[in-house]
Amino acid sequence: MDRAIEPTVLADGAELARAAADHIVAVVTAAIAQRGAAHVALAGGSTPRAVNALLASSPRRESVDWAQVVFWFGDERCVPPDDDESNYKMNRLTLLDPLGIAPARVHRMRGEDDPAAAAADYDAILQRELGDEPVLDLIQLGMGPDGHTASLFPGTVAAIEPDKHCIAHYVPKLDRWRMTLTPRTINAARAVMITAGGAEKADALREVLEGPRDTDAYPSQLIRPRDGDLRWFVDAAAASRLSHAG
Ligand code: 6PG
Repeated sequence: MDRAIEPTVLADGAELARAAADHIVAVVTAAIAQRGAAHVALAGGSTPRAVNALLASSPRRESVDWAQVVFWFGDERCVPPDDDESNYKMNRLTLLDPLGIAPARVHRMRGEDDPAAAAADYDAILQRELGDEPVLDLIQLGMGPDGHTASLFPGTVAAIEPDKHCIAHYVPKLDRWRMTLTPRTINAARAVMITAGGAEKADALREVLEGPRDTDAYPSQLIRPRDGDLRWFVDAAAASRLSHAG
């Protein structure tokens, strides 16, 4: 990597969730103060679930004017919104409903529709709401043990259409379709945060942060905001194979 990325290393999953939640509160609060609204993309996976529980309860719940936040999604599984695999469902149950967010302020990816059509719709909604080159205030991401992030999976990088903001693509290793924001849009954000916890992510984290650039093998390496702030929050287990964790 030509630019050193120093992750914030937390003792365990609980500390990781707290640090991530506090970072979200800070970024969202600053965006609202500066621009009157915060456009935030949510992620799927286990860490966001724990982070959401913290955001939806005291004291963080009261520390943000949540009515000024517009919620987006970084990726989605191609399932209906009430399916247990749906990222929207997880976030609705753990964050959006508990905070009483108005449905009009939530832009979900329509996993129940034809994937290509749903991705094209999402692309159009992003541009309608945020302009031709949409700039989100914060994009939350996770990283899988294979180095994927959002739904940018190893071996699928050639399928990323560079002129698109949201794409649908088939992920052979899952035998599933996914929808995902593209690196173009993620790297245009004012802030991007990636959380990764657990020993099963240690090898991928080392390759992503310290290995040679190989974005098709480790798509998380694609995440390099052009002008925005990139923060990695990892736990000690995930950081255990880094050369200078601390
Ligand atoms: C998803 C994601 C995905 C996730 C990682 C990490 O839809 O699954 O958005 O990219 O963030 O797989 O997930 P965990 O936090 O559960 O390890």
